[in-house]
Amino acid sequence: MNIKRIGVLTSGGDCGGLNGVIKGAALMAMSMGIETVIISNGYAGLYNLIDVDNVSVLTAERLDHIRAELAGSEAGNSRVKIKKIDNKDKYERIKKGLEKHGIDGLVISGGDDTGSVMVDLAAQGITCVHAPKTMDLDLQTYSVGGDSAINRIAEMVRDLKTTGHTHNRVIVLEAFGRYAGHTAFRGGIGGDADCILIPEIPADFDIVYDHMKKRFISRVENSDVKAGTYSIVVAEGMTDAKGESIVDESAGVDSFGHAKLAGAGKYVRKRLEAIMKADPEMKAFMKRNNIAVEGVYELPEVREVTPGHLVRAGASSAFDVNFGKEAGAAAVVLLTRGLGGNTVVRVRGTKVTYKPTAEVIKQRHVDVNTIALYEALGTCFGRRPEEFRPETVEVEGEIQREY
Ligand code: F6P
Repeated sequence: MNIKRIGVLTSGGDCGGLNGVIKGAALMAMSMGIETVIISNGYAGLYNLIDVDNVSVLTAERLDHIRAELAGSEAGNSRVKIKKIDNKDKYERIKKGLEKHGIDGLVISGGDDTGSVMVDLAAQGITCVHAPKTMDLDLQTYSVGGDSAINRIAEMVRDLKTTGHTHNRVIVLEAFGRYAGHTAFRGGIGGDADCILIPEIPADFDIVYDHMKKRFISRVENSDVKAGTYSIVVAEGMTDAKGESIVDESAGVDSFGHAKLAGAGKYVRKRLEAIMKADPEMKAFMKRNNIAVEGVYELPEVREVTPGHLVRAGASSAFDVNFGKEAGAAAVVLLTRGLGGNTVVRVRGTKVTYKPTAEVIKQRHVDVNTIALYEALGTCFGRRPEEFRPETVEVEGEIQREY
């Protein structure tokens, strides 16, 4: 395919690794004699390209000002579903915008929503390749942003333990993760949290409370200064006993039609406080250890912390910069080979693997069998621990590894 100029676009929630994708794509294109321009502000910018006079060209000098090691996207993101735009000429408008700026193909980085729009654009004859991105890690492939978010969550769990320990508090950290709990799970394990609540496992609060009570009491009573904490990581999309997320019915939906969530951290705190209030043993524990002060301080406090966008902001992990650069570069390879409509899976040596985007965006959930392993190691997931039944399998062929 004769490609002279490509556009790079990032869409959906920002996260670590996106600037790596931009640099990887532009530098690989440059090495092939192809020019790269930025389509700013995601699909909104693509839709409005026709009205833009000048696009930014990613020259070597411009690229030098993009810091791959920082999260966010130099290209800017938006959440726009092209199909939903009430303009029958929307696809023509996009094609004319691309023609106006001489853009022969697009590298699009985003998650499942972005991918679904990309599949739509490809079906309309627009040449595009997908570099996977989502801190939620719910695509079939690895996607930039996941590792950075996991590391941020792990650091927050670790740091919150110092204040939790000082105040004898139960700390609930709410992390992003609407449908899948990958980052809450892996970040929670990375920070050595006591309990992790994810959408895949409806939470039974009697079980959470029991685990919390035993561990917290034992920590405090085994401490010479009577200090202890208990940490919980909850994904924003956690489900209650009925398997439903904690949704704010009055808040409506976002531009992709997702119901707005109402604060899983606060919900967990309230549920635990209610059970604790009705439990005389907790009051007795406070008295026995000379912590209680009548009428003033009779029960341990539960506090929720909602870092929100901090989980995906700041710095990219080294892994995401590596993966991002490779995914961006590989996307250009796919474009030049006429392999539009596909998602980069990974690069190993000279092998660039890919999969149709329509397949890749099928939602991937946490494998609850892996949860059973961590239950065997003592972490609570808000259900009665299931037995971990390992099978041992010798690897045949290529050994899968992350680096
Ligand atoms: O795109 C992933 C994500 O980080 C989700 O985990 C979260 O629900 C959502 O984005 C929040 O996005 P916004 O910044 O648009 O509120």
